Amino acid sequence: MAVLITGGAGYIGSHTCVELLNAGKEIVVIDNFCNSSPKACDRVKEITGKDFPVIECDIRDGAKLREILAQYPIDSVIHFAGLKAVGESCVKPLEYYDNNIGGTVTLLEAMKEAGVKTIVFSSSATVYGEHNKVPFREDMPAGGTTNPYGTTKYFIEIILKDLCASDPEWSVSLLRYFNPIGAHESGKIGEAPNGIPNNLMPYIAQVAVGKREKLSVFGNDYDTPDGTGVRDYIHVVDLAKGHVAAVKRAETVKGCEIYNLGTGVGVSVLELVHAFEKATGVKIPYVIAPRRPGDIAYSYADASKALAVLGWKTEKNAEDACRDTWRWQKNNPNGYDD
Ligand code: NAD
Ligand code: WQD
Repeated sequence: MAVLITGGAGYIGSHTCVELLNAGKEIVVIDNFCNSSPKACDRVKEITGKDFPVIECDIRDGAKLREILAQYPIDSVIHFAGLKAVGESCVKPLEYYDNNIGGTVTLLEAMKEAGVKTIVFSSSATVYGEHNKVPFREDMPAGGTTNPYGTTKYFIEIILKDLCASDPEWSVSLLRYFNPIGAHESGKIGEAPNGIPNNLMPYIAQVAVGKREKLSVFGNDYDTPDGTGVRDYIHVVDLAKGHVAAVKRAETVKGCEIYNLGTGVGVSVLELVHAFEKATGVKIPYVIAPRRPGDIAYSYADASKALAVLGWKTEKNAEDACRDTWRWQKNNPNGYDD
């Protein structure tokens, strides 16, 4: 039997493919490559020495999904495919609702028809919104999202919960990722953002490699120890291993379960800059800039449920992630482009 990976050529998807293959799973990848390159899948094959089908398919194409579900012996789905840029989602909300929510509904319909009722979904810590206090726990109220991207994650969580309530045969894992950073230690796969990076770590990496002059630190007047925003940065390989644990559990347990995938440790912007400098020996020039609208002071996980139930916890720290990001960035200054 095989796991269908939607968005498997993307940043988190490609790392998860490696860990699933290493764990002895068969996989089938689908992606429309709107934010990724098929080369990422070639690199996954190089790293693991294993082959698997990679199919160009948009998750909004129900007919093609049905064909794929009929052709391969798929018994579960890990669903990464989606648009993820917070700022862009405020400018193009309909594209985000269509792609993320419409695409998920089309995928679920095709799964239901094929009798495949196990899904692990990429949710986000963003569903904790602005009003909960850290550390965020899975039983806190979700919602209060501050942008259409975050709202798509919140709505999809509700859709999946409703589906479980309607049919006890479904097995749904909602994985709430905190801030994924880092790259595979081979330096062959990593994060390859288009244009100016929105997120902190890829921005730091591009300053380090000389593509950008300096980092702008968005605000140093938050109520945090050094005044800069605090986040829970999780190494992407640890995050990928969390999916292996979740898919194994979902194969045997029905119903809807929610897990935070984070380290449980908060790291400030300046601490991450210094961790990068320490791990790589490269100086990161920065300036203090105004706060970025929509940012909160703190976001970090209570990661105890994933440990208790999935037996999963992070093994790598921020310095490991900085070292691995730097190896990937140096070897691939233009991402997967030649
Ligand atoms: P990514 O953009 O690298 O990967 C997403 C993949 O989905 C890409 O390969 C893209 O081409 C594909 N895709 C998008 N729309 C598609 C469609 N309609 N049909 C088929 N393929 C499509 O992003 P990522 O960082 O790997 O994120 C993976 C998932 O995790 C996303 O759902 C994202 O919202 C979620 N997530 C990411 C973060 C983060 O900070 N990276 C945090 C929390 C949650
Ligand atoms: C981290 C910290 C910034 C860039 C986002 C999404 C969230 C999730 C993960 C998908 C903040 C500061 C950043 C820069 C900076 N994605 N920063 N200068 O905002 O915590 O989370 O990605 O689900 O939904 O909102 O991550 O990496 O953008 O920012 O000072 O150039 O770095 O203000 O404190 P964020 P981030």
